[in-house]
Amino acid sequence: METLNNYIKQLINASEKHDNKKITQICRDMGKKRKTLLLEVQRLGKFPSDGGALIIAQDKQIFLSVFVLKPDQRTAIHDHGSDTWVTILSGCSRNTEYQLDKQQVATAVSSTICEPGHVYHLTGDRPHDDMNVAEEHTIQLHFYPMDVLKEEIHCKRSLWDFKHRQRHPYSHDLFFKLSSEAGTVIEENIHVN
Ligand SMILES: [Fe+2]
Repeated sequence: METLNNYIKQLINASEKHDNKKITQICRDMGKKRKTLLLEVQRLGKFPSDGGALIIAQDKQIFLSVFVLKPDQRTAIHDHGSDTWVTILSGCSRNTEYQLDKQQVATAVSSTICEPGHVYHLTGDRPHDDMNVAEEHTIQLHFYPMDVLKEEIHCKRSLWDFKHRQRHPYSHDLFFKLSSEAGTVIEENIHVN
């Protein structure tokens, strides 16, 4: 945990200063050190080797978790309610981002293949979904510059179903239901970069 702990200290410091540029830089540094970080997170108790998430650090200033997607696994379309940085440690995922029309219907606007070391930043109101496009598990670090389990942030979050792209209040049960249906969704014709 030595390398990870060092980055956690840096992330707390940057979050206290609300320095998003610095947070992006730290996440990029973590992406470069991904092999060491991968070994450290895999040694954590309850590492989600069959898919899922594990909280690594949580306090008033930060929330850091490891997120594992199985091959072909896709999340529901969701937002995060807070700025979020995702760093790919291993595997490969496709991040699709959406825009909302006046009726809050989600339309895909971009899709990016994210290889190991890639970092992407989402604002709290930006809907997206994530799909593992590797033949192995994809392992990501998710960083939030605040405790996102706080009720007020949780209440701001939303989900969209793939069929109608309509907005629903966020709940873990609905997230997992929509995520399990997501693998069967027909792709839109969106630009992949
Ligand atoms: Fe997400």
